[in-house]
Order: sequence, then C-alpha cells, then structure tokens
Amino acid sequence: MDTIETVKQQGLSAIEQANDLDALNQVRITYLGKKGPVQDLMKIMKDLSAEEKPKFGAAVNDCKKALAAAIEAKQATLKDAALNVKLESEKIDLTLDGYHPHNGSVNPIQLIIEALEDCFVGLGYTIAEGPEVELDYWNFERANIPHDHPARDMQDTFFIDVNRLLRSHTTSIQMRVLDEYSADLPVKLLCPGKVYRRDSDATHSHQFTQCEGLVVGKNITLADLKGTLQFMVDAIFGKGRTIRFRPSYFPFTEPSVEVDMTCHNCNGKGCALCKGTGWIEILGSGMVHPHVFEMAGIDPNIYSGFAFGVGIERLAMLKYGINDIRDFYTNDLRFLEAFKRFN
Ligand code: DAH
Repeated sequence: MDTIETVKQQGLSAIEQANDLDALNQVRITYLGKKGPVQDLMKIMKDLSAEEKPKFGAAVNDCKKALAAAIEAKQATLKDAALNVKLESEKIDLTLDGYHPHNGSVNPIQLIIEALEDCFVGLGYTIAEGPEVELDYWNFERANIPHDHPARDMQDTFFIDVNRLLRSHTTSIQMRVLDEYSADLPVKLLCPGKVYRRDSDATHSHQFTQCEGLVVGKNITLADLKGTLQFMVDAIFGKGRTIRFRPSYFPFTEPSVEVDMTCHNCNGKGCALCKGTGWIEILGSGMVHPHVFEMAGIDPNIYSGFAFGVGIERLAMLKYGINDIRDFYTNDLRFLEAFKRFN
C-alpha cells in the first residue's frame, strides 16, 4: 500500500513539474503506460491473498484515476497558458491608425477651371478647345493683329517656324470657333487652355493658363458682358465684390475694357495688395471687333458679341493668396496638399 502511495506522490510531483504539453505527455506515458509503475503494481496483484486483492486493486485504481485527473487538469492549465502566450504575441492595437492610400490633390489651376466651367455651363455655355501649337493665322491674323502690328510685341511667343507658334492666348480658340459657328448663331462658348509667352517672373510664366469666353447673338451689349462678369466674380470669389470697366485696347475688340474687382484684402479701402486703389485688375474683355466678325463671315450689322480672356493663375493667386506663379508648376507637395478636395 505504501508503494502505491509513493508511485502516486512521485507521479503527482512529475505532473506538477511538467511545464509544457510535451513534457506532460511524457509523464503520462511514463506513469500510466504499459511499462509504467502503475502497471507494475497491477502485476503484484496475483501474488496477493483473496482478501487483500480487492483493497489493493481499488487503491491502484484510485492512484491511476488520481494521476489521470491530475494530468487532465494540468493539460487544461498548460493549454490555457499556451493560448495566452499566443494571444499576447499576436495582440493587435485597434486604436492604432491604419495605412491610408496616398490620395493626390487637385492643382488649384484645375480647381479654378472647373469652377469657371460650372459657372458658365450653368449659364448655357459650351466648352471648346483648340491646339496649343497654333498657326500664326488664328493666333494673330484673325485676331486683327497683322504681321506689322505693334500689339504682337506684348505677346511674343515661341515660334515653331514662320507660320506656327505656341499660342499666346486662348483668343486663338475664339477665332477658330467663330468660323465654326458662324452659320450656327447664337453661340455661347468657354475655352480654357494653356498659353505661352516670352515671360518669366514671380507673376508671369512662359507657360500659363487662360480661359476665353465668347457670346455672339443679336443685340448683345456691353451691359450683358458686365452682368455676366459680375456673375462670374460672385461664383469664384463669393458675393460682395463689385466690378468696374476701365477703357482699354485690344485689337480684336471695340470697345475694349479692362475689368477690375474690388480688392478682397481691404474691401475697396486701399491697401498694399491693390496699391492703394481699392481695385484689382482681373481680366481683359470687350465687344467683338466688326472686322473680326467680317473675317469669320459674320455680318456685324446683324450680330454683336462680347468676349473676355481671364488668366487662371491670376484668379487662383487672388482667391487663394498665392504670391509666386511658379508654385503652381513645381509640384511641391506642401503646396499641392493645401488644395486637397476629397479628404
Ligand atoms: N487675349 C487677351 C490677352 O491675352 C485677353 C483678352 C482681352 C481676351 C480681351 C479677349 C478679350 O477675348 O475680348 O491679353
């Protein structure tokens, strides 16, 4: 009987010491296996008296059960511990910020073009485009700027050969569409696009962006032009800016006007931005010159029209407070990311 107790105690302490599932399994094989001490005890049975046998048998059985129960209990503890180690090592911190795809942003030039398109498409205008490599004919001749005209000096550009150049204004698109729509009037068109000039400083670039507007119909007047431009200024800068016309000169319009809007910085009182005048120049425009109509085969006695040409960068600089035109083109993320639309 003492031997049974000894086997039980040794077994229990071996179970106690097993600190992983493999070791525990080994203990089970050692103690409860066919060649183990419990089985050896069974072998003693046959030498015992009939009286002793049942008692001894019951005690061995108890010992066997006790060891099996202890193994089972330990197994459960070890499995729990193993699971905890695994959970601990695979722990996820749900409060950590995830990975975000890097969304690009829209260049402010594009933002202004889209704002203009929204505004004018809402007024029933159609968007038209034209080639950047343009014929001298459409860029100058048809805009009433013949070869010897001094107005060419202000728009010196990059010539591909004597007849072809990088267009110096979107007015070249205006001239093309006038031809195209001459038999299909009235017409309202908006023509955005890149233009080129021999220019370079903080507010001028060799390549920049313009948007041309053109309306041709019967009884179109300067008042229509003014109402339309006020509507545009409201749409781009918000309500509260007044515009004014200043007499000017463009070969393709008569009369021609320079359009100013009240300075958004000082509300028209006068500040450094508007050089004390309270006004900021925003674009050139006028009534389409009769000669331009005639060249397009349109009778200026029947039809009239207005046109305007606005610098997109200029509008963006005024709207967003940008000081250097080169910021639009140098792809500095610190600049571009200020114009994120979707985040
Ligand atoms: N083409 C002119 C420029 O680039 C801008 C302009 C002025 C366009 C008057 C027009 C206009 O259509 O009517 O300086």
